[in-house]
Amino acid sequence: MTATIDGKPLAIQPGERLIDLINRYGIEVPHVCYHPQLGPIQSCDTCMVEVDGKLVRACGTMAAEGMNVVTSSARAAQAQREAFDRILGNHMLYCTVCDNNNGNCTVHNTTKLLHVEHQEIPYKPKPYEVDMSNPFYRYDPDQCILCGRCVQACQTLEVNETLSINWEDPHPRVLWDGGAPIGESSCVSCGHCVTVCPCNALMEKSMLGEAGYMTGLSKTALDGMIDVVKDIEPEMGYGSIMQVSEVESHMRESRIKRTKTVCTYCGVGCSFDIWTKDRHILKVEPAEGAANGVSTCIKGKFGWDYVNSPDRLTKPLIREGDTFREASWDEALTLVARRFTEIKAATGPDSLAFISSSKCTNEESYLMQKLSRAVIGTNNMDNCSRYCQAPATTGLFRTVGYGGDSGSITDIGQAGLVLIIGSNTAESHPVLATRVKRAHKMHGQKLIVSDLRENEMAQRADVFLHPRPGTDLIWLSAVTKYIFDNGLADQKFIDQWVNHAAEYKKSLDLFTLEMASERCGLAVETLKKVAHMIAEAKGVCILWAMGVTQHSMGSDTSTAISNLLLATGNYMKPGTGAYPLRGHNNVQGASDHGAMPNFFPGYQEVADPVIRAKFEKAWSVQLPPKPGLDNHMMIEAIHDGKLKSMYVFGEEMSLVDSNANYVGDALSKLDFFVMQEIFFSETCRFADVILPACPSLEKEGTFTSTERRIQRLYEVFEPLDGSRPDWIIIQDIANRLGADWKYEHPSQIYEEIASLTPLMAGVTYERLEGYKTLQWPVAEDGSDQPLLYTKNFNFPDGKATFYPVPWSEPTDQQNTEYDLHLNNGRLLEHFHEGNLTYRVEGIREKTPCTFIEVSPELAGERGIQTGSWVQLTSRYGKVRAQAVVTTRVQGKELYMPMNSTDEPVNRLTGSHTDKATHTPAYKETSVQLRVLGEIGDDPLPRTNSRHGHPTPQTGVEVERKWRRKDYRQPGDQLVQIQTS
Ligand code: SF4
Ligand code: SF4
Ligand code: SF4
Ligand code: FES
Repeated sequence: MTATIDGKPLAIQPGERLIDLINRYGIEVPHVCYHPQLGPIQSCDTCMVEVDGKLVRACGTMAAEGMNVVTSSARAAQAQREAFDRILGNHMLYCTVCDNNNGNCTVHNTTKLLHVEHQEIPYKPKPYEVDMSNPFYRYDPDQCILCGRCVQACQTLEVNETLSINWEDPHPRVLWDGGAPIGESSCVSCGHCVTVCPCNALMEKSMLGEAGYMTGLSKTALDGMIDVVKDIEPEMGYGSIMQVSEVESHMRESRIKRTKTVCTYCGVGCSFDIWTKDRHILKVEPAEGAANGVSTCIKGKFGWDYVNSPDRLTKPLIREGDTFREASWDEALTLVARRFTEIKAATGPDSLAFISSSKCTNEESYLMQKLSRAVIGTNNMDNCSRYCQAPATTGLFRTVGYGGDSGSITDIGQAGLVLIIGSNTAESHPVLATRVKRAHKMHGQKLIVSDLRENEMAQRADVFLHPRPGTDLIWLSAVTKYIFDNGLADQKFIDQWVNHAAEYKKSLDLFTLEMASERCGLAVETLKKVAHMIAEAKGVCILWAMGVTQHSMGSDTSTAISNLLLATGNYMKPGTGAYPLRGHNNVQGASDHGAMPNFFPGYQEVADPVIRAKFEKAWSVQLPPKPGLDNHMMIEAIHDGKLKSMYVFGEEMSLVDSNANYVGDALSKLDFFVMQEIFFSETCRFADVILPACPSLEKEGTFTSTERRIQRLYEVFEPLDGSRPDWIIIQDIANRLGADWKYEHPSQIYEEIASLTPLMAGVTYERLEGYKTLQWPVAEDGSDQPLLYTKNFNFPDGKATFYPVPWSEPTDQQNTEYDLHLNNGRLLEHFHEGNLTYRVEGIREKTPCTFIEVSPELAGERGIQTGSWVQLTSRYGKVRAQAVVTTRVQGKELYMPMNSTDEPVNRLTGSHTDKATHTPAYKETSVQLRVLGEIGDDPLPRTNSRHGHPTPQTGVEVERKWRRKDYRQPGDQLVQIQTS
């Protein structure tokens, strides 16, 4: 298909908007409100062009065969200019003293593009104050051009539904919750609106007075300068004034550094530029990240202050009795090498163990496992996927062969139906959740949620299932059986691609809908409805997380999920598949790169002599043949006196492992314990040597996100004086133990990984340059697999396999003494225990502490109100916190977020585990509750978004603007054609 644009025939891509076609060919047409990731808003009217003699908005028009487009006819130019003039009536141009004058301001650049010299419509301020009430960003109504990008982003991309514009008001402006101060609204501080704002109306507070050479002047001085500009504009015109601001903008380039990085919080894998001036973070600017585009959550956008916290460790510490003393690097590393050598000599290599960090890079995990295996000689090596993801990986290994997400986040967005099980996606994987919320709200995607809590996704769902704790496996199996029994299975797919169908079907005999209904407490009719929705959907993606995996049947329930997908043919196609949502930024990568007791990098078995021989040859050592201890077994081995020494980096083990008291006791028994951290964490209290490391912004390397996406991060800041990147510390220890490693840059480590790991054979730093990414497996020629299974499954015959799974009763059941079920998990604002996020002042202000969610029924029964102090006691320990009475939880089920180092929920959890993987059954915890009698304020302050009142609407609702009496279409004879 071709369209003629300004006399030239140009090829059109399928489904292309006229504005995108125009931009793709580099033709300059103004477009202020249009943003490709938001779609057409049509509020600014600056993109007027002539199509077949009629004036249209290029953003609201689809390119079509034979179209004759003129972009700069006198009519089009006049319309564009008139539309932009109206924008300038809402926006004061004071670029030279504006913090947004950094080369990427749409309003500034459009002024230049249209060669604006004078404006016809004079600027008029609006009768509203600047809103500074959010800790991270501010809104200046006087600079707001009412383009609606922010509203569109909040309503249709983030789908938090906070923003709107009061189009009918004499003085329209952007509203939060229909007119609340930002800081008291439902705004979750995700930053979408700030990122897409085309001018300085919405700005990060960290930019204010910092970005420009003259923007830090006092308000009076600034106002004076703005007045001067206004005075000289009629005579000089904007052209000359803009030249000055252009020079100032170019000067900023030398002091504002923009560095690409990858978020260090959850496993979504958001990437963005970080703008810095010396060690000050000016802002986080997401734009083209493969996983997130312009999206972020509060942590990715605003959660980086911890990097410059005064609490950072900058000196190695050595224990002396009950305290620590500062030491030189040389003394600390010499001590580590000496003690490791002595312990190895005295009690053998298997009396040492190593834990890698899922917050650190792939290269660092690789070096840690190499240190463990090749230098010390033990496979006692693990990472925190043991605490969360190992059961999901096992379920997928059993059925489809690879332990990774079977597609990409785009597949989740495309699916006809998304089923979320045991995942508080909107809080734990916020950006990924936006893709589901957007598809559900805007594109008719169906959503089923199974969870104990009515979390945000459950509130949005078409069907919300609240099964009894620990019974997901039953209803999943019953729905699968119903699908088979009623001819709803994808028989063609099964015949071609899945082994063991007959045995599997037989194993489902027990799981009738009636049995499921009785055990799970779900209505038979609801289960039938779910079965039909799944069987009839055009593509199903199942997302699950710790609500599934942290059970004694975590692996089996994960297997049941994959069985259901196989039965309905929901693999091997876009918009289908299994998505265990990885919790930490690099928990996928830590396992992929060998930080496991049984696998070398790329899931190559340590017990396989051929594989071992390959690594022995490459590393010139003999390697231990027997799989080592996992995290859980390490704790037991310490209590049994078999494990004497540990080296842990970037892992808050004493709080995040279950049964924290028991773990703490174990750690205190170690003969020699090395911690490598950026802060003095709770786990550091048990250490003998503490080595100060660097956070992700101070090093280079790669992370692998939940969708198997490998991405590079670049050094934003030099390591804080006294601290060192983890890979350098690990290498130094290895060399002091006799290794002769000579890595000078993480890229050299990756070269070695690629040479030994078929799964990553084609990964190179060049192929990951900038925002380029690869999703494993990566062949030697660099081709990767966004969709994991296209030609076959990862088994010798290329077929998947049904894997029967029985059900058994959950552990740690309630009784008369421990009569309540305790669920636990993450909170949007904090990451895990909060070691990083409590060091961000704005986050601490909004969410200062943990709390315990109590249902209204239970609260009524026990005389609890929001703010009441309560004590929970389990079979393993006690915690004390304030209650929040909420309908998010039901009956005798409680929920406690894990964001506390003082009262960590894991003092309550026990040591029982998933049978196959030893992942603790954190979600199988019974407690008793004692009301302590004191009542304080709501632990969630008034400024917390949970107190807000969103105002859902379908987008910016520009039609309401068009209906205003004072609205006239710019140019003449505007017609709307082919808009969507
Ligand atoms: S939730 Fe808040 S920060 Fe996010 S887009 Fe909406 S208004 Fe902006
Ligand atoms: S605040 Fe919103 S409506 Fe105003 S200019 Fe920015 S994006 Fe546009
Ligand atoms: S925490 Fe997760 S969702 Fe939020 S910005 Fe980071 S990677 Fe993205
Ligand atoms: S860019 Fe088309 S109307 Fe704003």
